[in-house]
Amino acid sequence: LTGVTALGLAACGGGNASEDGTAGGGAAGGTTMRLALNQTEEHPSYIALDNFGERLSEATDGRWDVDVFPNETLGAQQEALQLVSDGTVDLAIVSGTQLENLNEDFLVFNLPKVFDDVDHQMKVIHDQEIVGDLYSSLEDSNNLTVLGGFTQGARSVYTTDGPVETPEDLAGKKLRVQESDLHIAMAEAMGAAATPMAYGEVYTALQSGVLDAAENNEVSFYTAKHFEVAPHWSYTNHLVGLDYLIINTDLLEGMSEEDRAIFDEEWQATYEEHTQLWDEATQEAIEQAKAGGATFTEVDSAAFDEPLSALADEFITNESQQALYDAARAAAE
Ligand code: GCU
Repeated sequence: LTGVTALGLAACGGGNASEDGTAGGGAAGGTTMRLALNQTEEHPSYIALDNFGERLSEATDGRWDVDVFPNETLGAQQEALQLVSDGTVDLAIVSGTQLENLNEDFLVFNLPKVFDDVDHQMKVIHDQEIVGDLYSSLEDSNNLTVLGGFTQGARSVYTTDGPVETPEDLAGKKLRVQESDLHIAMAEAMGAAATPMAYGEVYTALQSGVLDAAENNEVSFYTAKHFEVAPHWSYTNHLVGLDYLIINTDLLEGMSEEDRAIFDEEWQATYEEHTQLWDEATQEAIEQAKAGGATFTEVDSAAFDEPLSALADEFITNESQQALYDAARAAAE
């Protein structure tokens, strides 16, 4: 962490914001917020967030800007979460699985089959009536505010040899999952042996044989180059994944009312742009991965759906989770 801290001091993080939000360490006297991302610069999340910074800076006359650090340069998601909580880093994109470890209500949106597709997901997660106080639930405990999210699209399994058609084909295979009890159970429901691991370690683990399989969306399959080492994509479509934008609560509360309104408006334009970019990026990723030798195969969907659907009953254990789940499902109908 020493390197990260040193960078934090040099790069004028959000800790420099004064109480009225007008002072800071940026070159023009504004505050440049540092955002941790684990994706490459060609990923739609980087593109949309980079544009966010530009628009925000312009709309606030340079009082606020966002500098996006891609490729886990500020740390993998678990570290980034901690750094935003500490105020060492200002913003981060983290997968829903990370927030499930802080408040178990978040796990509802990490369940297989809770979202039918990207449109349904985006409608649910940005509906204040549905999410209630979920996004402010970490403010007192962790100094973190959730601002909303980006889709991760539909996730499927890919293997170093394969493809797979049924859960039996995954028997004995070490499948990487995110650091989440739910997703460990999900891998097991799909027949595999689960190995939780940070995103940035997956390529090497697949290459060296530590892993036999991983699961993600086509965009990550291509941009993180996993297709080079695990080229057999099988359309399990087990989950529509979700990323959140989180911000240090003290920093957010230090913004003037005027700047906060601009920030919220530009962030909304950002997730809308991301959703628009997503389909095209997915098609492009499929084409490029195919050109690089990857294969895409359909699976026996019914064989996967049954054990995956059972996870909701097993993991929903309190009333607030049930209410979120019911509201999310109702929005699909
Ligand atoms: C997707 C998602 C990331 C997540 C990654 C993972 O790429 O956008 O936020 O970290 O999956 O599988 O870990």
